[in-house]
Amino acid sequence: VDIADDNSSITATLPSGENVTVLLHGATVTSWKSGPGAEKKENLWVSEKAVLDGSKPVRGGIPLVFPIFGAPPANHATSKLPQHGFARNLRWEYLGKSTSESTTSGDAGTGPTDNSVKLDFGLYSANLTDEQQDQWPYDFGLVYSVTLSRDTLQTMLNVRNEGQLGFDFQMLLHTYFRIGDIGSTAITGLSGVTYTDKVLNATEHAQAENAVRIAGETDRVYKRIPQSTTSIVEGDKPRFDVVRDNLPDTVVWNPFKEKAAAMADFAPDGDYVHMVCVEAGYVSDWVRLEPGDTWEGGQRLRSLL
Ligand code: BG6
Repeated sequence: VDIADDNSSITATLPSGENVTVLLHGATVTSWKSGPGAEKKENLWVSEKAVLDGSKPVRGGIPLVFPIFGAPPANHATSKLPQHGFARNLRWEYLGKSTSESTTSGDAGTGPTDNSVKLDFGLYSANLTDEQQDQWPYDFGLVYSVTLSRDTLQTMLNVRNEGQLGFDFQMLLHTYFRIGDIGSTAITGLSGVTYTDKVLNATEHAQAENAVRIAGETDRVYKRIPQSTTSIVEGDKPRFDVVRDNLPDTVVWNPFKEKAAAMADFAPDGDYVHMVCVEAGYVSDWVRLEPGDTWEGGQRLRSLL
């Protein structure tokens, strides 16, 4: 496994050619390439005008939302924080890699060898500015693990309360998937689930059809989903599976034509047809973490090429 570290991002490449890049700013995954041939294909969408210098969150890839999803509520411990919290807007520490090899089939030594690599990143309350520590005065340690194997990328967050006070948080993995055409894309695995429609005045609805299709601005919070896998299907071909681990919710977001054009860092304007956000998270409720306790949750993404 090859690891490249240019002091602003880490890129890991497997012997079979798959690779992942994590920007230290936000521990944002900005590229994930996989596929059967020699030429690997990008799975994530990143805006051509994404700001990567640390001055704002990245428009694309997998920004990590913590400790609040969306705009914070009034009269709450998170009220002074910016939308989606601070984690996507701070430089994380690269903690190192671990690799493993496993033989997938046949007698030992005869089957193909599957490599995987795990990259760990850390963010601690001491990394916050004084102003940020005043805005959210808790002692915490975050370890974010990004594991690349042949056709999957796993991203897991471990949260530890290192202080004397309990705290409540939300988290979400804001994955921007690269797709061929939003018009022929469906999201499945949400049927029967109740969602809050942020485009329709936060009203609640039940998902009737098995396939969620996007024909206009879409911003829905699907809550307490019983099935663990949500899929992105192009035409009748499954393209991605998102398997949630200890995360009850999923946000489906596409800004569509007008909102995309209005976002300064969204480019090209027409690229809303090539992306969809399917965001696994813990956002319908709060995770309560008492002093000394830890919590872990995340997702496993599978690219079906
Ligand atoms: C989604 C929210 O998760 O993120 C949307 O549900 C929001 O309401 C979108 O517009 C993008 O947020 P931001 O802060 O990255 O522009």
